[in-house]
Amino acid sequence: MSGCDRMKWIYVRDASGNIGKHVCLKGWVYHLRSSGKIRFLVLRDGTGIIQCVITADRCPKAFEIFDELSQESSCVVSGVVNQEARAPGGFEIVTDEIQVIHKTEGYPITPKEHGVSFLMQHRHLWIRSLKQNAILRIRAEVMRACRDFLDSQGFIEVDAPIITPASVEGTTTLFEIDYFGEKAFLSQSGQLYNEATCAALGRVYCFGPTFRAEKSKTRRHLSEFWMLEPEIAFGDLEMIYEIVEGLVCHIVERVLQRNAKDLETLERDRSKLEKIKAPFPKITYDQALALLKDKGYKIDWGEDLGGDEETALSLSFDSPVFVSKYPAKAKAFYMQPDPQNPQVVMCTDLLAPEGYGEIVGGSERIWDIDLLKRRIEEFGLPSAPFEWYLDLRRYGSVPHAGFGLGIERTVAWICGIKHVREAIPFPRLLEKLYQ
Ligand code: 4AD
Ligand code: MG
Repeated sequence: MSGCDRMKWIYVRDASGNIGKHVCLKGWVYHLRSSGKIRFLVLRDGTGIIQCVITADRCPKAFEIFDELSQESSCVVSGVVNQEARAPGGFEIVTDEIQVIHKTEGYPITPKEHGVSFLMQHRHLWIRSLKQNAILRIRAEVMRACRDFLDSQGFIEVDAPIITPASVEGTTTLFEIDYFGEKAFLSQSGQLYNEATCAALGRVYCFGPTFRAEKSKTRRHLSEFWMLEPEIAFGDLEMIYEIVEGLVCHIVERVLQRNAKDLETLERDRSKLEKIKAPFPKITYDQALALLKDKGYKIDWGEDLGGDEETALSLSFDSPVFVSKYPAKAKAFYMQPDPQNPQVVMCTDLLAPEGYGEIVGGSERIWDIDLLKRRIEEFGLPSAPFEWYLDLRRYGSVPHAGFGLGIERTVAWICGIKHVREAIPFPRLLEKLYQ
């Protein structure tokens, strides 16, 4: 490619290390501007944006080419890196040559304000915007931090299947599929498999997409979301608190450290994240009800907490808060009853601050086979798909515990964005598949 041999190709993020050097950058036109006899092309390449200055004196050809360009045209720019405090990012390229790779016409997303539905229809293009770039980079860092933390704590990553014969989190949100003539479902959670693999390897986690046919439109629900699910043989609620605290603090620290520019792009108030320190406050469901009652909410004992209640609780703390020991009937079939009060279960939800609500749900698991059989029956679940799961209580059953952390809700909170739909590259929302 003329004007750009491979040795000269740099990414925008590396401009600072190349001051005074002749380089080339490959990317897309982010913005074009003319000012008297100078033309400015702002180029984006996925790692950032940089201003390329074009003058007729230095490069008459590039000056002409400028007029053929439009937003999102792809091109290669060659020139010298210059430190320039007034330029976005602090550097600019004094351009010698522009090579057009593809001329774009009528790019649908313009700098004017667009509605969310329009942007969702163009999600495959919307992800090119600087804010969406920042969110996706933070998402990648959150996922990396999850793995790094658990790996450092001796957990083994073991994948759970996506096609499953049984429900985990209630039968109302199952996506059914035809599996060679048999009924099967997309996984709601890898937990049941984690319970098998933790008996094989001690401390395990699975990390992958999970599916829920959520019938309501909320800012917290997706039909396909990613969940990190650790499980610990011989673990209990106290260990869950400790690991969740370590994990969440690690995630937040890593993003603060490695995504400073992205947080700035999102205009995220860093001080709110800098405050996140373990231990987190811990309240029981009963205490949560009392707190909510003071705020004017009416919930009967036994009901699960809804989105509004979670928001209200979450706004009462400026730290993530654990809400534990929910009524057994509001939670899943596999949760271990509290030995002090079997009406409640040994579970906990972690609510993120600033109104974000639940990001983690976890519990101790029933390890007595008779009790587990009874619960499966009480929940009206078919017994055959759970036979293998009961085996785990037949052969070397042990107390164990685990949790699931929702990636999109965690990313939405850390980024300070309102809706989980922007926290995943291609969201699956109620009834509509755009891409
Ligand atoms: O509380 P949940 O339903 O717990 C489980 O699935 C357990 N089996 C996990 C385990 O113990 N291994 O879901 C866990 C987390 C929630 O706290 C939330 O962050 C996220 O998964 N989540 C969703 N995120 C986006 N859209 C949805 N529809 C979600 N449902 C749950
Ligand atoms: Mg939950």
